[in-house]
Amino acid sequence: MDKLSITGGRRLHGEITVSGAKNAALPILCASLLCSDDITLHNVPALKDIGTTLKLLQQMGVRSQQPEAGTVTLNASQVDSLEAPYELVKTMRASILVLGPLLTRFGEARVSLPGGCAIGQRPVDQHIKGLAALGAEIRIEHGFVVARAKRLKGASIRTDMVTVTGTENLMMAAVLAEGRTVLENAAREPEITDLAELLIKMGARIEGHGTDRIAIDGVERLHGASHHIVADRIEAGTFLCAVGAAGGDIMLRRAAPDTLGAVLDKLSESGVTIETGPDWIRGAMNRRPAAVGFRTYEYPAFPTDMQAQLMAMNTVARGTAVIVENIFENRFMHVQELRRMGAQIDIDGPTAVVTGIEALSGATVMATDLRASASLVIAGLAAEGATTVERIYHLDRGYERMEEKLRQVGADIVRITEAS
Ligand code: EPU
Repeated sequence: MDKLSITGGRRLHGEITVSGAKNAALPILCASLLCSDDITLHNVPALKDIGTTLKLLQQMGVRSQQPEAGTVTLNASQVDSLEAPYELVKTMRASILVLGPLLTRFGEARVSLPGGCAIGQRPVDQHIKGLAALGAEIRIEHGFVVARAKRLKGASIRTDMVTVTGTENLMMAAVLAEGRTVLENAAREPEITDLAELLIKMGARIEGHGTDRIAIDGVERLHGASHHIVADRIEAGTFLCAVGAAGGDIMLRRAAPDTLGAVLDKLSESGVTIETGPDWIRGAMNRRPAAVGFRTYEYPAFPTDMQAQLMAMNTVARGTAVIVENIFENRFMHVQELRRMGAQIDIDGPTAVVTGIEALSGATVMATDLRASASLVIAGLAAEGATTVERIYHLDRGYERMEEKLRQVGADIVRITEAS
């Protein structure tokens, strides 16, 4: 299993190119199931989760080609399996995103239920409830969601909570349903907007994406399209937290600053100098950060996917920060590991109180999810001495060549590959 070896204390200087957003690419790849023409995608990040999704689609009969790095062409004209097996779903919960497209185009889908997850329970009841409202007959059989419908019928759906992949699944199901669907309490994340933009290029009729009320008028069929995936706001935010913690001056190219409002505000509050242009962000820091408290909520508020990284920065800040995690019930698994590096963090339910210290001390640490791993890398960059981050397969699920990008800006970080 690969690990990262980091020697902390180097300031970060230089340029990094931001990759396409994992959480936009995953639903967009699944959207290829909605028509029989070619869908060509650009700016697709080279990540383990993307590979898993391509494998899942290929098992269903979708043909895929990668003519060059970052470009994927998919064709779902010969789909011969309507099933997402447990072996793939258990490694990547986002596999549930094939449910809506398969059901609406083929009238049937069998998708394994995801089961537990390190960061929380993460049920998919809202996906199921929404599809049932669109007229699907749904049963749970042998661990699978089995859904059937002749043709889905538009309906008004209000989810009990704001759900990102739930909104995506229902939006994809509704584009081929008969009549109008209105999604109330919809997620507003930029990844939803990116998916809606692809669907519109494919011929879908969607209004209100980016707001909490999305209206979709179903069409008979969709056609081929090509699309450039939006920049990964969480990857960009992660590098900015790294510069906030370790110091330096970095320029992020091909970024989407308009998707990062709440994160940039917090970084500025902590003393990071932030400058932005249409597709770049510059972050500079020449002192210890000031502690910044925050609460995670749905977009456009501060994202849960940045909680661990900004917490890592707070561990070396001046002052005390109160952090509240409102989205997932178990997303503080990085805390134990950060403590091993000397961080002072108290947890009470969804609240973490971080008292900043002058310097962390390097240690061997291990993370159990993607963003927790990223926070340990940030801590390692800021710490005194050597840090080893183990089990970085989590990191490889969501960050493209993270260590190479960090090395480019002067970090002392290497990947150690070991036979498992
Ligand atoms: N929820 C339910 N029932 C549902 C759906 C959601 O109770 O049917 C609950 C969840 O348990 C959670 C809350 O609603 O407490 C919000 O979950 P949401 O459905 O929005 O999360 P998700 O769609 O499964 C996506 C991202 C996550 C990100 C969250 C929140 C993808 C593929 N994943 O997950 O990304 O944390 O939204 O923004 O888009 C990551 O990239 O590291 C990651 C975990």
